[in-house]
Amino acid sequence: MKQVFLETHGCQMNVADTDRMEALLFHSGYLRTDAVENADLIIVNTCSIREKAVHKIYSLFGTYRPMKERNPDLILGLTGCLAQQEGENLVKRAPHINFVMGPDGVDRVVEIVQAASTSNEPRIWIEFDKHKEYSIPEIAPLPGQAVSPSAFVNIIKGCDKFCSFCVVPYTRGREKSRTADEICAEARQLIDRGAREIILLGQNVNAYGKRDLDPPVAFHELLYRVAEIPGLERLRFTTSHPRDFTPETVAAFGDLDVLVNHLHLPVQSGSDRVLEEMRRGHGVDEYLGLIQALKDTAPDIEFSTDIIVGFPSETERDFEMTLELMEKVGFSNSYMFQYSARPNTPAADWPDTSSEEEKKRRLQRTIDLQNRLTQEQGQRYLGKNVEVLVEGLSRRSENEGTPRWRGRTPHYWSIQFDDPELKVQPGDLVTVQVEGQRGQSLFGSMMDCHEKNSRKNSVTA
Ligand code: SAH
Ligand code: SF4
Ligand code: F3S
Repeated sequence: MKQVFLETHGCQMNVADTDRMEALLFHSGYLRTDAVENADLIIVNTCSIREKAVHKIYSLFGTYRPMKERNPDLILGLTGCLAQQEGENLVKRAPHINFVMGPDGVDRVVEIVQAASTSNEPRIWIEFDKHKEYSIPEIAPLPGQAVSPSAFVNIIKGCDKFCSFCVVPYTRGREKSRTADEICAEARQLIDRGAREIILLGQNVNAYGKRDLDPPVAFHELLYRVAEIPGLERLRFTTSHPRDFTPETVAAFGDLDVLVNHLHLPVQSGSDRVLEEMRRGHGVDEYLGLIQALKDTAPDIEFSTDIIVGFPSETERDFEMTLELMEKVGFSNSYMFQYSARPNTPAADWPDTSSEEEKKRRLQRTIDLQNRLTQEQGQRYLGKNVEVLVEGLSRRSENEGTPRWRGRTPHYWSIQFDDPELKVQPGDLVTVQVEGQRGQSLFGSMMDCHEKNSRKNSVTA
């Protein structure tokens, strides 16, 4: 078999696309390798969300040039969001690239590889298939490949929100939902093959079903349907948008035992004025109102978020309001970013009002605050029992006699524990007593193994 080296940048959607390409390529005669020097085909699945991510990809592509010079038959492909955004420019910049393909082309990867292998002319496929329904037809799993205990299922692609700073609507196109039947069938198949947790995936999951879905199914209805699948222990979704959050979805957190009490809900800023400039479509009060409604429904719920600092026109006062909001909600975790001007986005043309130094300082202050909030939240678990879904061996255990496992609590804390009696397997639900915390990670001792407990109140004194 020929060998393909696949490299993924960016978000979980790209990870899912890479997995799909791996499976499609396998069935056409390519086996995935971790050794780039053995590859007949190299595909870099790219991201363009921030400038830093793009720099990384450009420098990486330079490193493949000598390999291509040594082996002219080597095929080099660039897929994903940067490929979509830059198209032909990439080939002009790096003529050793054989093909450039946007995210909508993933299912045609075999075709484009074949086309690239029969001609030296670089291929560029960056059309959006505007009329086609969004479907991910089932393909045979790779032989011997285990399903992760926590498995992602795409439910919607694209984004129609057009936040003023974001490239995603341009790189992933319009929102399109998969049918509920197809989603449930995939989730069922993953559970049959060993998944215990399903994470519904999309840039905007709660816009699910809002357009062109036949028969129409609302996001909360999808949650209820997936929750019924026998064998499912935990259900999550990411990423949802505050603007599309319905009371019915809030109610689902009360109704569905398998829907865990953790929600990643990006807020970006704590200033109404900045939120308006960002075109997020909601203000601070609406965000806090939603958080409160969720807390009323599921009192032990925890939240994580995304924050941008240094957005054009953000003042020191605006920034302080972001810190105040973070404190008010008490996020257990935040992904914090310095604003990065991106091509084609409206905000890229707006005057940058804070210096690089100022942006860095603001970023550091959000990080410091979040570290404290995470610390405070984590301390509350000390001495308590938590239910852990075991995902795999922790890196630390690889050189030791006693296996050390890593997993997640329902509230998405990463946790590690030892298994001196060799009782545990990936996919097990075990009870662990929390003994310590290091940043976003907890560690503890296993109290009980093979426990099947899908009740939400899984933290006990
Ligand atoms: N669809 C999700 C998030 C998509 S991108 C949502 O709307 O919430 C993930 C995160 O990257 C965003 O939430 C935002 O915080 C950050 N991000 C996106 N564009 C950015 C930019 N131009 N500069 C800095 N951060 C950005
Ligand atoms: Fe980007 Fe906004 Fe869409 Fe999220 S909702 S992907 S931030 S445009
Ligand atoms: Fe990056 Fe595209 Fe995801 S820009 S974050 S890979 S949707």
